[in-house]
Amino acid sequence: MQTNGKVLLTPRLILRPFEDRDAEAMFAIMSDDETTKYLRVNPYETLSQAQAWIDRCISEGDGEHFRRAVELKETGEYIGDVRVKINGKDNSGEIGFTVCREYWGKGVASEAVREVIAYLMGECGINRIAAAHSVKNPASGGVLRKVGMQYEGMARELYRNRIGYHDCHRYAILKSDI
Ligand SMILES: CC(C)(COP(=O)(O)OP(=O)(O)OC[C@H]1O[C@@H](n2cnc3c(N)ncnc32)[C@H](O)[C@@H]1OP(=O)(O)O)[C@@H](O)C(=O)NCCC(=O)NCCS
Repeated sequence: MQTNGKVLLTPRLILRPFEDRDAEAMFAIMSDDETTKYLRVNPYETLSQAQAWIDRCISEGDGEHFRRAVELKETGEYIGDVRVKINGKDNSGEIGFTVCREYWGKGVASEAVREVIAYLMGECGINRIAAAHSVKNPASGGVLRKVGMQYEGMARELYRNRIGYHDCHRYAILKSDI
């Protein structure tokens, strides 16, 4: 998928490609025990893990992955990310997102995710975007419902991370839904 590093804007946010300067803020988020509790990755232990991930984002560009840093317009601060793994064959994607704990509950994730879905479906022709979240992580389900995704069922023990196996609720949105 060629999107040429497109920057997306929402009322409060700038969704832009990752830059080297994001490493420290990303590390702060990804090393937090609570924030990473339901992610597949273990909390980062070193800054170099954030640097390596950002290097990969920069070198891969927008191909199989559409990844954007979430920056707060007002302060220029990096406060999270949205990432979509694209399946070109099916013209679909799987979305994930993270927001800095200090900004939870302020509508940041839903504002960012809604814009990414609108862009990928409206301008890049993606037909379906899906997500799955642990049943223990209702905040994620709140975001998915708020952006208009429909519930598709529960997948038992879909993934395992450091706290164990996770039954997951699956959601998706189709281009024809919007
Ligand atoms: C999941 C996460 C991204 C949500 O970010 P957020 O910016 O706080 O989400 P929003 O403020 O946009 O919330 C959207 C909806 O979710 C619901 N919600 C938010 N937090 C919730 C919670 N703790 N419990 C239940 N529902 C919740 C609300 O209903 C909200 O809708 P409302 O604004 O109409 O009330 C954030 O908690 C996070 O980064 N968690 C750690 C990483 C993670 O788990 N990512 C998802 C992996 S699948």
